[in-house]
Amino acid sequence: MNFPLKPGMLLGTATAATQIEGGDQNNSWYDWYRRGYIKDNASPETATEHLKRWREDLELMSGMGIQCCRFSVEWGRVEPEDGVFDEQAIARCREEIQAMAEQGIKPLLTLHHFSNPMWLEEKGAFAVRDNITYFLRYVHKMVESLGDLVSEYITINEPNVYAFNGYLDGSWPPGKRNPLDLARVLTNLTAAHIEAYGLIRKTRLKMGYSDTKVGFANHLRSFSPKDPKNPLHRFWASRAEELFQGNLTRAMCTGHTAFPIGRHPSIVPGRYCDFHGINYYTRSTVSGPANGAAEGVPVNSLGWEIYPQGIVEVCRKAYQLLPRPIYITENGTCGADAFRARYIAEHLEALCGSGLPVERYYHRGFCDCWEWTEGTSARFGLVHVEYPSQRRTVKPSGEFYRQVIAQGGVSEELYRQYCGVSYPTAREDAV
Ligand code: BGC
Repeated sequence: MNFPLKPGMLLGTATAATQIEGGDQNNSWYDWYRRGYIKDNASPETATEHLKRWREDLELMSGMGIQCCRFSVEWGRVEPEDGVFDEQAIARCREEIQAMAEQGIKPLLTLHHFSNPMWLEEKGAFAVRDNITYFLRYVHKMVESLGDLVSEYITINEPNVYAFNGYLDGSWPPGKRNPLDLARVLTNLTAAHIEAYGLIRKTRLKMGYSDTKVGFANHLRSFSPKDPKNPLHRFWASRAEELFQGNLTRAMCTGHTAFPIGRHPSIVPGRYCDFHGINYYTRSTVSGPANGAAEGVPVNSLGWEIYPQGIVEVCRKAYQLLPRPIYITENGTCGADAFRARYIAEHLEALCGSGLPVERYYHRGFCDCWEWTEGTSARFGLVHVEYPSQRRTVKPSGEFYRQVIAQGGVSEELYRQYCGVSYPTAREDAV
């Protein structure tokens, strides 16, 4: 393997406030932890203590040559009570973003990444149409407060994962299992995104900035029939893809709705993203209503298939729907670090050879951190975090990533040095 990165492409890392910051009890995920739903009982109130250690983390990041950083604001921290904003918490965000800029790291700010303030959760969060106004009030406040420092925004992270896990599967807060709620949440998230898209651009324009870019981070999977010759497998694969991501992508990017997205006055045909934010991890193999990894394929420690070609398939579909630059807003793997460098190299190679306008690659993640219901048991970082000491150590994959950035690509020598490791396979590691 030997390839250069695309000209102008920036390489960075992605994270979310709840997963790293620590020190907050006022959100739906702390509540989920308190109720005992985190696998290893690790608390998001600790996470990786980023709030205390952000200067150390930034120094490490800058030492690795990271060029861009995707991060989020903890809504419940900046708006602890309905309509009451904490100016000190906002000032702290500003300080960190300013320090990032001083290191030459370009910020991409996510406004909603899975967690809600408790006061909003208690009002029914996005299952209630009227609650969209609370989101817009918060978005407006953040853009007014940070808009001079940040030109690029993600409105909502993975609306499909948030909605399916929280309202159909019940494994995430608020733990509902109701298809009607699922449809309501998907519809309201679509409307919230479309309205926030216009609001962010308008707010920054009023501040004198015309370089705003807004998108959402879309969790996209590749879907394949288990047996491509079996019409039933093919039927379920295409159904699963449409239900989980296809219809939502179309609605959020272009305002065209189809089941399970319902009608809403704000969802009208239009163009609602300046880039495609794509979170890509895996492929689902489908033979019926349920899906998973096929036997014998390479997998990570959560049983997710490692399928680099899939990243190009999903980007191509998004680009065909709406020709916009592509930002890979998350891509990464968990388990042993030994195969992470190979994983990165293969996904980057697929992207760089694709002919698509891929402008960013945000590796997920920088440090190992708090992974929602997995707690700290799944390690996705380029940097190892030892718990409870919180000591950070750059992993070999982190050193590999530093060199890819420094060299502007993957050379044969670099590949040989870091990537000659085989992946675990589904049979050995099946979940
Ligand atoms: C989420 C990230 C998370 C990753 C791995 C994605 O669905 O957006 O926050 O770290 O999965 O668990």
